[in-house]
Amino acid sequence: MSVNVEFVPDGLHGVVAEGTYLWDAAKRLGLRLPAECEGRGECDTCAVIVREGATLLSGLTEAERTRLSPERLAAGERLACQSKVERAGDLVLEPVPVTEREETAEEVKQDLRAEFREMPLQQKLATLVELEYIAASQTFKSITDVPVSYFEKGLDYVVNFGRSRARRERQARRPAEHVAGAPKSPEADKPSS
Ligand code: FES
Repeated sequence: MSVNVEFVPDGLHGVVAEGTYLWDAAKRLGLRLPAECEGRGECDTCAVIVREGATLLSGLTEAERTRLSPERLAAGERLACQSKVERAGDLVLEPVPVTEREETAEEVKQDLRAEFREMPLQQKLATLVELEYIAASQTFKSITDVPVSYFEKGLDYVVNFGRSRARRERQARRPAEHVAGAPKSPEADKPSS
């Protein structure tokens, strides 16, 4: 028996076999979902929202319960590398936007590169100082502009800096009652199993 899978909003669709993981189904249909932890269930970059057909999928794994908040589970999110199609039928899936999940290292680098390019010189220097990178070079004495190539050398170092900032920004957008430690309403949704 086969399963009809559609990814929205792209409209990619096709048929996959039962037993296929959602990440593999996406790849088969031409959609490369991010997979920062390479499918070990240790990130949330492969998260998708199940718009239709949730009952066709395997039960939640421990990794999904750990990585996805009760609110995200209640909204129908699954980790594509952990969820397997177990029954035939129609599935409609939507990748979780990057603004609502952890960024991959490459996405963080791209953001930081773009941001750094746009900065005025003073701010570039201040950023490098903030990253404790200025001490690594004596060439600042004669520098008239900080080349992007210099920043590139520090990208791996600053990925975590960018990630924690993105996490803080995402957290700031969350409703107050969803923030960890906030008092829970008695009607708070429980994760489905
Ligand atoms: S790729 Fe990391 S949890 Fe799926």
